[in-house]
Amino acid sequence: KKDIISTNDITNFSTRSMEFFPLEWYKKMLHDNPVYYHEETNTWNVFKYDHVKQVMGNFEFFSNVGTRTTTSVGTGERLSGKLALTDLDPPLHRKSRSLFSSAFTPRSLKDWEPRTQKLAKDLVEEIPPNETVDIVQSLAAPLPSLVIADLFGVSIKDRVQFKNWVDILFQPYDKNTEEEILLKKHHAAKEYYEFLYPIVVQKRMKPSDDIISDLTRVEVDEEMFTDDEIVKATMLLLGAGVETTSHLIANTFYSFLYDDRSLFETLQNDLELIPNAVEEMLRYRFHISRRNRTVKVDNDLLGVELKKGDVVISWMSAANMDEAMFEDPFSLNIHRSNSKKHLSFGSGPHFCLGAPLARLEVQMVLRTFLQKFSGIEPIASFDLESSLTDSAPGQSLTSLPMKVFV
Ligand code: HEM
Repeated sequence: KKDIISTNDITNFSTRSMEFFPLEWYKKMLHDNPVYYHEETNTWNVFKYDHVKQVMGNFEFFSNVGTRTTTSVGTGERLSGKLALTDLDPPLHRKSRSLFSSAFTPRSLKDWEPRTQKLAKDLVEEIPPNETVDIVQSLAAPLPSLVIADLFGVSIKDRVQFKNWVDILFQPYDKNTEEEILLKKHHAAKEYYEFLYPIVVQKRMKPSDDIISDLTRVEVDEEMFTDDEIVKATMLLLGAGVETTSHLIANTFYSFLYDDRSLFETLQNDLELIPNAVEEMLRYRFHISRRNRTVKVDNDLLGVELKKGDVVISWMSAANMDEAMFEDPFSLNIHRSNSKKHLSFGSGPHFCLGAPLARLEVQMVLRTFLQKFSGIEPIASFDLESSLTDSAPGQSLTSLPMKVFV
């Protein structure tokens, strides 16, 4: 288990809403403290676009191998060997990455499009028109785990159970009930394992079109995943891909309701704008992105003297607001020509493996929603502060009620 660095100690925000949208803090850090040493956590923190890119991508100097981390998901257990994907540097990282990549080929992506479309459509069809709905409960929370369950090849009858395990496994830790939550997680992890293992065994004998079958067949340098490793690999994918995607969907609706009320209609009139709008949401409305690296060799690449073993935290969401890269960065503009340069999916050898899936899923669900409903409206009684919770990667909406019209 790694030592967890709490980034809350660095930001010191007094409210959840501030963490949900920390633009003022980013502005201040980018301007006054772009390379900031924080004593209490003993970390260096970088905010500028070039610095963040450098720290995430330059693995000769900034390593993914280390004993401290800002991210803790699932039961917090460390994966080793071929499964250590996120904890390795090239050249060792290459093999693990190639094994995992077998599940994310362009061919599979083509096959996933209609499947994702169908799941998005089913959920959107269930939303009752002309009533108040909570878009987090009805769409943003369920879609990503249902999509992954489908892509893993989990049968429809088991999907509700599957989603329950996922919800527990990645439920946010809470300081007061930490022990209790950890116990629940271990229990869910055990049940999940016992459920999935026989499915892996079966798919190895009789593969079909799904991620688990792909993982049973892939071979790199004469090495393959064992059945046990595949179960753990699916847990890694769930940890990386479920909550992040939920967060993006929820935040996009929040933005439609509270950033710019004309966005919904603009997109409705030109659905071709959706892909870029999604990139702009990842740039402007996605504030849980921060990753750590450990200094491998003494260097002054960031203009300060860094020593081997120092921990550097990259604040990707702050880099997305750097005016050296984005013109007028603190405004939301879905027509921006370089939104896609955001660093929310990281940069360098660890660049998000699931980015094409996340993009597909969010684009699909928006398209489906925009085609079905004529408009949405906020609810006067909505209170942001009480609708946010600490989540594994950061601050997330637990509910977002709105009125929908056909
Ligand atoms: C890695 C963000 C969705 C699978 C990453 C990294 C980021 C990220 C920032 C890089 C970590 C680093 O460099 O230390 C996101 C965001 C998502 C998303 C913002 C959604 C909006 C997904 C999905 C999947 C996925 C849907 C798969 C089901 C992965 C994997 C890695 C990764 C396997 C590790 C890659 C490696 O270490 O080589 N993601 N992710 N992600 N992501 Fe995603």
